[in-house]
Amino acid sequence: MYATLTSIGAYIPTKCVSNKDLEAFLDTSDEWIVKRTGIKTRYFADSNQKSSDLGIEAAKIALQRANISHKDIDLIITATLSPDYINMPSTACIIAAGLDIANVPAFDIAAACSGFVYLLSVAKAYIESGMAKNILIVGAEKVSSVLNPHDRSTYILFGDGAGAAVISATKDKNLSILDVHISADGQYAHYLETPRMQSNENEHNIVQCMSMKGSEVFKIAVAKLTSEVKDILERNKMTACDIDYFVPHQANYRIIKAVGDNLNFKNEQIVLVVEKFGNTSAASIPMAMNILYEEGKIKKGCTLLLDALGGGLTWGSALLRFGGD
Ligand code: ACO
Repeated sequence: MYATLTSIGAYIPTKCVSNKDLEAFLDTSDEWIVKRTGIKTRYFADSNQKSSDLGIEAAKIALQRANISHKDIDLIITATLSPDYINMPSTACIIAAGLDIANVPAFDIAAACSGFVYLLSVAKAYIESGMAKNILIVGAEKVSSVLNPHDRSTYILFGDGAGAAVISATKDKNLSILDVHISADGQYAHYLETPRMQSNENEHNIVQCMSMKGSEVFKIAVAKLTSEVKDILERNKMTACDIDYFVPHQANYRIIKAVGDNLNFKNEQIVLVVEKFGNTSAASIPMAMNILYEEGKIKKGCTLLLDALGGGLTWGSALLRFGGD
């Protein structure tokens, strides 16, 4: 058996926040943000929405497009850096309950912005080993809940959202997830972290805000992602010409452009939604794929190359042929 990605869905929160909106309370400018990151807007979830709420909406669309019942799902995995709860219950368990799915395994993956590629890797292994037939994977992020609104170096970069996909068993190798590679190096853990600390005002109030050494991560990202994509293409005896769409994690226009140029991708092959959504971490790749799908560009057999790097540091790449209609 092989694993195939048969559908994609996404949820975009309604509140659009422009760079100009951020200028009102942060020492920053639309010009700086656009020049350094390519981001113009991002969407923030309402105060009463959690990551699971966003994930449930994305999952409903993915299930409907896969044309399967929620009763056929035999595993749910969620990737998030902004879980509903600290440690337990997992966001995957909340999403499962919200979809009326019970008595199947549900768990979270912590791989920050590489979350979706990690999800694909686990789903592929579960299906190829015969342990599952239909898996729902969800990247669900309320990143705004772990950002310090006074930290201009992180607050401007991120957005909220969710993306989901159904991965099913198939005998058709040609229409499957052809290859996934994931990796990590904890020596860089302190480059991107949400430390557990207590607020001075209220010792019972756990405050967790992200901090990032941006320029250090930037340099590693360009180098690692370039070699990651080069390796997966070589391993599968492909070149950039064999790829319909390169769907990178949407962290920064400059990182995407540098990796795309290093690998000779044409502009029309590179999927760019960072301008609209900002960095939505584990949701960024499926949200980008969803845009392609809704524009009618992803068709059955379409070859996609994904890559991502995030906190951990973690990184990875995936090569797949879309298996849905
Ligand atoms: N507005 C205005 N000025 C700013 C802002 C801001 N929002 N943020 C920083 N600056 C200033 C800095 O203080 C600095 O000023 P100085 O020169 O006086 O010291 C100057 O701008 C340059 O700062 P740098 O951090 O060197 O800027 P850089 O060009 O590296 O861009 C950025 C910063 C956008 C964060 C970039 O480094 C980046 O994208 N890094 C990678 C992010 C990433 O890929 N993360 C991984 C995934 S995220 C995850 O896993 C959660």
